[in-house]
Amino acid sequence: MRDQLGRPLQDLRISITDRCNFRCTYCMPAHHQVFLSKDDLLTFEEITRLAQILVELGIQKIRLTGGEPLLRAGIENLVEKLVQIEGLHDLAMITNGYLLPRKAQALKAAGLHRLTISLDSLDNAVFRHMNGGLANVEQVLAGIAAAEQAGFAPLKINVVVQRGVNDHTLVNLAHYFKERGHILRFIEYMDAGTLNNWRMESVVPAHEILARIDAVLPLEPVEASYLGEVATRYRYRDGSGEIGVIASVTQPFCGNCTRLRLSANGQLYTCLFAKVGLNLRGLLRSGISDDKLKAHLAKHWQQRTDRYSELRTAQPTQEKIEMHYIGG
Ligand code: GTP
Ligand code: 5AD
Ligand code: SF4
Ligand code: SF4
Repeated sequence: MRDQLGRPLQDLRISITDRCNFRCTYCMPAHHQVFLSKDDLLTFEEITRLAQILVELGIQKIRLTGGEPLLRAGIENLVEKLVQIEGLHDLAMITNGYLLPRKAQALKAAGLHRLTISLDSLDNAVFRHMNGGLANVEQVLAGIAAAEQAGFAPLKINVVVQRGVNDHTLVNLAHYFKERGHILRFIEYMDAGTLNNWRMESVVPAHEILARIDAVLPLEPVEASYLGEVATRYRYRDGSGEIGVIASVTQPFCGNCTRLRLSANGQLYTCLFAKVGLNLRGLLRSGISDDKLKAHLAKHWQQRTDRYSELRTAQPTQEKIEMHYIGG
């Protein structure tokens, strides 16, 4: 099944909650207080039903996101249901790591395949500034240790790079995670949502990030591990591990974008920068049959034309869904 630009449907990102225990300045401002109520959220049964149908339509990989997915009570029960879907090859989660000391074992036992953890700097003052003053580096490192102990290594560690904020701490991150065998991924700061006052001047282009690392720890390119991979991969020339850069601003990858996104309240989006979604919660709660639902979903993908990052201008004006609803 292909969209209007010939792209197949392969990945589903499910936001489990719009709430978060951090307030990263690039995602959700410190004073933000308006959140969905419990009745707005899709139930685990509803999410599993949708996932099952979407796997029948081509989805091979699901990533659970948020907000912070570990804030949703009983998340391991959802993991347990989703891993049983026949035809699903990969079930991953992205978390800020804070709750992993409490949750990592249960996630592993439930069958989660992979974990990605966000950590923007090892400098505590820089990190606290970026997360709204709500966590210390040590707490995330404790989460990383818990994930290692539970058997999730190697991990991916996501770093959002902002000029003048954390870009002077990137080489330090590279040294640290190279030693420990985890895969760092540097993400260009994106104009996601409407709350972060994004400016082009704050973006550090991927080529510059790579040059800074390469000057100290020499790098060479690696082939993508699958079609449509958002990160461009590099390995250290001394053979001791790899990093990735996600250049969605300076080198957009819409041409290979195979992703669908489901928000916590059941809206389906065909782009991270979408304005409107398809109201699946309404459809689900109207008592629709699986066959009809499947037909709706197929049609929605087939009509898709999104390629926001390729059309982006230096002054983003479009209204967009917020990052903590759609989950990055
Ligand atoms: P793997 O399955 O491990 O390859 O992970 P991934 O790269 O698909 O997912 P991850 O959740 O780690 O995404 C990394 C970053 O890339 C996040 O900041 C996302 O917001 C961003 N990203 C992921 N998909 C897209 C996309 O389709 N468009 C844009 N513009 N950014 C994306
Ligand atoms: N630009 C780039 N990445 C972002 N993320 C959240 N907001 C932004 C942004 N404005 C990232 C998080 C996490 C992933 C889900 O999305 O750091 O790694
Ligand atoms: Fe929370 Fe992740 Fe957004 Fe930070 S980026 S506020 S950790 S959802
Ligand atoms: Fe896909 Fe939209 Fe990102 Fe382009 S901007 S890669 S279409 S999610």
